[in-house]
Amino acid sequence: MANFEKTFIMIKPDAVRDRKSGLIIDRIERCGLTIERMEKCELNTELVEQHYAHLADKPFFGDLVSFMTSGPVIKMIVSGLDAVAKMRTLMGATNPLDAAPGTIRGDFAHDVNENVIHGSDCLDNAQIEIERFFGQA
Ligand code: RTP
Ligand code: MG
Repeated sequence: MANFEKTFIMIKPDAVRDRKSGLIIDRIERCGLTIERMEKCELNTELVEQHYAHLADKPFFGDLVSFMTSGPVIKMIVSGLDAVAKMRTLMGATNPLDAAPGTIRGDFAHDVNENVIHGSDCLDNAQIEIERFFGQA
């Protein structure tokens, strides 16, 4: 049975810079999900390091933090039935080379480091990330 969920979504600096935000938001709404909150903002290094702490030992971590602080992002709370999994399907694979055509990364991303969109990977992390980026709702 489908469950009503909230997930944390972020349009990354490459897509904001390239003015792809509207097209991406359109895809989210078209599949029946709702934008509950949305704000354009710049992230500081500390917040990005906390958000991607599970990747701190990876060789690309420095580049990832530099990228995520290179310009504004658009952070969102997105809700709907099975919103967490639905957004992950809509986003496509992390590496755009593996992301299917028709997915957001498959259509808009060109680089595994600069891959257009973030979405929470499970319901527990969705709750943690919503609180991290929006505070207590
Ligand atoms: P995200 O957290 O941004 O939604 O991405 P994800 O779940 O699909 O992938 P994750 O493993 O959590 O990786 C987070 C972000 O790190 C960058 N990355 N680069 N160079 C690489 O091999 C590599 N692997 C991951 C990507 O920006 C990825 O979205
Ligand atoms: Mg992830």
